[in-house]
Amino acid sequence: FTVYVPRDAGALSLGAEATAAAIAAEAARRGVDVTVVRNGSRGLYWLEPMVEVATDAGRVAYGPVLADDIASLFDADFLHGAQHALGHGLTEKIPYLAKQERLTFARVGIVDPRSLDDYRAHGGYRGLDNALKLAPAEIVQTVTDSGLRGRGGAAFPAGIKWKTCHDAPADQKYIVANADEGDSGTYADRMVMEGDPFVLIEGMTIAGLAVGATQGYIYLRCEYPHARDALNAAIAAAAAEGYLGDNVRGSGKAFHLEVRMAAGAYICGEETSLLESLEGKRGQVRFKPPLPAIEGLFGKPTVINNVVTLASVPIILDKGSAHYRDFGMGRSRGTLPFQLAGNLRHTGLVEKAFGVTMQELLEDFGGGTATGRPMKTVQLGGPLGAYIPPSRFDTPMDYEAFAAIGGMIGHGGLVAFDDSVDMAAQARYAMEFCAIESCGKCTPCRIGSTRGVEVIDRMLASKDRDKDEALLRDLCQTMLHGSLCALGGMAPFPVLSALDHYPEDFARTA
Ligand code: NAI
Repeated sequence: FTVYVPRDAGALSLGAEATAAAIAAEAARRGVDVTVVRNGSRGLYWLEPMVEVATDAGRVAYGPVLADDIASLFDADFLHGAQHALGHGLTEKIPYLAKQERLTFARVGIVDPRSLDDYRAHGGYRGLDNALKLAPAEIVQTVTDSGLRGRGGAAFPAGIKWKTCHDAPADQKYIVANADEGDSGTYADRMVMEGDPFVLIEGMTIAGLAVGATQGYIYLRCEYPHARDALNAAIAAAAAEGYLGDNVRGSGKAFHLEVRMAAGAYICGEETSLLESLEGKRGQVRFKPPLPAIEGLFGKPTVINNVVTLASVPIILDKGSAHYRDFGMGRSRGTLPFQLAGNLRHTGLVEKAFGVTMQELLEDFGGGTATGRPMKTVQLGGPLGAYIPPSRFDTPMDYEAFAAIGGMIGHGGLVAFDDSVDMAAQARYAMEFCAIESCGKCTPCRIGSTRGVEVIDRMLASKDRDKDEALLRDLCQTMLHGSLCALGGMAPFPVLSALDHYPEDFARTA
């Protein structure tokens, strides 16, 4: 029998290690031959630890399964997929999964992340093999044609970034994966790296071939030790079979890859600070231009993309740009792994084509608030994203549609709040967060955020808030337009959206 128990950090935090150990022990006690595969998470986090059993009809899911449940599962004959109070039937039929369009996450939760054979058996490395038959400029063109835009948040067209790097003459170029996933409520990068690390490795290798880079680095946030282990094991396996090294798949082209651990600063997710940190320096923002694509790591042309962007490349090279571009709406092509977090019944990862509405994500997938109270707001796109009120929940997930209402999709994280949230406190928190995380290089961010906290405090304490509100709005404009990078430049979004949509929360008097 084959039983799957995720080694995903989210599942581990809910007791998956003990669950796996209990299954092995119970199987031994009963003299049953059971192989426990440690897969990634399917992303149905309210069911974690979610155990799956391979049956002739397909994989059958049980969850959340704790160590104490194991004896009763064996008694009920779960190894043959039998019914049980914790049973959910065939995994693929669970509506939450069945309604998704998984392209980038096609293998996450399905394969054994430590097995290159499993990766290949599920379509892995077909993209690289196709890329090896193309000229570098043709690979770049394929990515451009797919419409893929940067999934880290800024949504810049990946193909244009790659072309800039491709066209820059240099003796050395680099590929950097930004795996410093720092946004609140986001975990898509982590899930890919833990659940399907080879897809990131393959995507980076294709990027290297496309722009002529021979060295790649994965800049990984230090809070992700399980992703580090998964990546290092996968890199070693890929190198052992000639997918990495001096002669990738006998092509005569080199691509080397290493993981570098970050030290835990939000600002190091900003690409130029990241490069400084990767060079061994303090993580401080650089002026742009020059763009990293022209002068990046160690002054050399560098493609720096988010994990999900790079992990989306193999399927584009495998199935073709048209296949990918056919998903989505407007200028937002393909799919995005949305991450449902906060006060929702069914938190988890939902990969859908752009165009799905926020309402569908929150209700059809998320199941409404976990507390059962009315939903008051959703912060979309991380701690610097705008708060979206329910009147806007019908907005389709499309970069332009959200920009039009003063929001941004960012890395695709949705954090839901019920009506007990105090939006003035949330606005204050945005300024405080910026003050704590500012690299200190530019004045609007360094000083502005601290003044922002003070003004909000004063505003809440005063009986006449109008003067302070005008000052706060003015300060927000200065930070928006005067900051060197997106940290100071976006901290005003949550503040202004809270002011605009929830003025009553600022009307309290001390
Ligand atoms: P940006 O708009 O300045 O740049 C986007 C990317 O395009 C950069 O890599 C830039 O170097 C590149 N680029 C721009 N013009 C180019 C050209 N002509 N040729 C080649 N490359 C070009 O945005 P930035 O400051 O890099 O990112 C801001 C975003 O980061 C925000 O929108 C936010 O959503 C996101 N973010 C994500 C976080 C996460 O945890 N994923 C955390 C914080 C912010």
